[in-house]
Amino acid sequence: MKRIKVAICGYGGLGRSHANQLAAMPDVELVAVCDRLPERLVAKEVATNLGGAGPAFDIRRSRTYTDFDELLAKEKPEAVFTALPTDLHAPLAVKAMAAGAHVFSEKPMAIDSAACDAMIQASERYGRKLMVGQCLRFWPEYEFLQKCVVEGSYGRLRSLAMTRVGAYASWSAEDWMNRASRSGGAILDLHLHDVDWAQQAFGEPGELCAGGKVGKTGGIDDVSAVWTYDDFCVTLRGSWMAQGFAMSFQACFEVATLQFGLHPDPALHLVKPGAAPEKIAVSAQSAYFREDRYFLDCIREDRPVERCLPESAKRSVALVERERRAIEAGRDLEAVPKANRGRA
Ligand SMILES: NC(=O)c1ccc[n+]([C@@H]2O[C@H](COP(=O)([O-])OP(=O)(O)OC[C@H]3O[C@@H](n4cnc5c(N)ncnc54)[C@H](O)[C@@H]3O)[C@@H](O)[C@H]2O)c1
Repeated sequence: MKRIKVAICGYGGLGRSHANQLAAMPDVELVAVCDRLPERLVAKEVATNLGGAGPAFDIRRSRTYTDFDELLAKEKPEAVFTALPTDLHAPLAVKAMAAGAHVFSEKPMAIDSAACDAMIQASERYGRKLMVGQCLRFWPEYEFLQKCVVEGSYGRLRSLAMTRVGAYASWSAEDWMNRASRSGGAILDLHLHDVDWAQQAFGEPGELCAGGKVGKTGGIDDVSAVWTYDDFCVTLRGSWMAQGFAMSFQACFEVATLQFGLHPDPALHLVKPGAAPEKIAVSAQSAYFREDRYFLDCIREDRPVERCLPESAKRSVALVERERRAIEAGRDLEAVPKANRGRA
């Protein structure tokens, strides 16, 4: 079997996660790994926000580079997985596509929508596949939620609450994640996961209101938003101001509630009136494996990528920008004057 020649650029938390997924695929040859920091190319362990033990992939099986241009010139990979600081997603993806590689780029697609456009243009210009790692779209519990929405299994959706909170990053190289100019702050790095899921499921909301708090990144690191559609609303909450990590959703349909990640048992449950919560079994395969496999199958079978398309991933970045504008402009016209707040 012909093996697909793959390279990884950015060998931190997510680069290692991709390396582990790819190492388990017999039709993939991970020919090279690039990281600007040489110490990252030898270290066996690196902290990540994904939990779990250190990598199973042994980097000695690949050639290593600190210069991405050199890797592209020498290795001519068929596909590149990029897991870089967010401000570098667009320039390095464009570079890889110009060199002839298909690109899987980690989320968020880019630091802003203009940079997303540059990636889309490069994909068209060089005729290369481009997929963005919006992993929730491959997350089995969220796929089940989508199925319930599309099929109306429990009636129409009336409201959906999505939450994702954690602590500020302590692992990112040169602390890039804690600088909004590089990461976009929690609203783009973390909250975007739920923004993207809701956006791809329901499209752009008619009305959106949002409140947020600037945190230590200098960007919005705590956000609460309500998106209103004709028939239901979605409440999204994201923060880097929490301790520990938690992600959850609660989807209220007409005749049942589907919930995931909630106390006391975070597994996916269906709750019907008067009945004990019923646990729903979903695939045990990780979303990270499934998204990587999907992208590589598109390359192997020479078919277009149809999931996590760049145009769709860009819409999510644009929605974060819309939330930011709502937060900046937001005025509660009936706001109570400061002196009159609290108890009478
Ligand atoms: N899908 C998910 O669940 C998920 C989770 C965490 C992070 N991410 C995303 O993955 C991306 C990477 O995050 P991370 O946690 O792995 O960060 P990280 O800091 O651990 O890794 C980034 C790596 O890129 C390297 N790098 C920086 N500039 C480079 C360059 N010019 N050439 C080559 N290497 C360079 C850094 O040295 C570092 O090792 C981010 O966009 C983040 O949003 C996604």
